[in-house]
Amino acid sequence: MENKILVNIDKCIGCKKCVIDCPMSNIIIKDKKAIVLSNDCLICGHCQAICPKNAIEITGFDEDIEEVDKYILNPEEYLRSIKTRRTIRDFRDDDIDDYIINQIIESGRYAPTARNAQDVSFIILKDKKDEFENIAVLFFRRLIKVAKVFSVSLRKINIDDNFFFKDAPIVILVVSKNKIDGSLASQNMATMAESYDLGVLFSGFFTVISRHSKKIKRELNLNRKEKVVMTLVIGKANVKYLRTTNKEDAKVLKL
Ligand SMILES: Cc1cc2nc3c(=O)[nH]c(=O)nc-3n(C[C@H](O)[C@H](O)[C@H](O)COP(=O)(O)O)c2cc1C
Repeated sequence: MENKILVNIDKCIGCKKCVIDCPMSNIIIKDKKAIVLSNDCLICGHCQAICPKNAIEITGFDEDIEEVDKYILNPEEYLRSIKTRRTIRDFRDDDIDDYIINQIIESGRYAPTARNAQDVSFIILKDKKDEFENIAVLFFRRLIKVAKVFSVSLRKINIDDNFFFKDAPIVILVVSKNKIDGSLASQNMATMAESYDLGVLFSGFFTVISRHSKKIKRELNLNRKEKVVMTLVIGKANVKYLRTTNKEDAKVLKL
């Protein structure tokens, strides 16, 4: 359904908040009422979100709008969660509740996208997870035979049957034609999974294989422009990390 921005003239008080906040300069005030110039805009909803009188509606969505209480992440806790995060490569096979999977998807859906394109989609591999991993393992074993001739570091790689998904209960493929949009959604999703005490592996190897294996591309049924941007392997961790480790100092240039 088409997205149209509707102003309820009876509610509008002409306060200009929407005019000032609109990133597309798409609203003016005339006779003390907001007027939307065009529906050819980002449909970002800032006008709707900022209106003190709830006078703006955007058509074409089923979802209920939620009122926002001031909510700020605790910065100390947030940074601690970032510092203590680790890539997990050893998972328990405990099933993940559908509610939690949905919350993870929601955190991806609400990530910002350039020009509000909302061009990110999600493929959940659960029942067919092993099937996809088998295809990737066979493909990669063939590929690596050749690559090993040229690369010393690749010679150490052992591609066992669980090389990509590490026996985790679910894998979510984040698909987009825009790498940045897909990556932002993926980071939100990883953080959301971690907030449910789940571990995450970004399986870069599977992401690469998904772009080269014709069989996987066919099975995923993506259109020509869409690509798997990130492969999120998710499950309860079977390991516990007891301390943080060092990272290089931030390279910061102050100008
Ligand atoms: C985009 C991306 C792809 C990655 N791909 C893989 C992968 O295919 N297999 C793997 O074991 N680790 C993968 N990693 C994990 C990195 O090796 C890991 O983040 C790094 O060694 C630092 O460890 P830490 O995440 O525990 O801090 C990936 C990480 C990122 C960000």
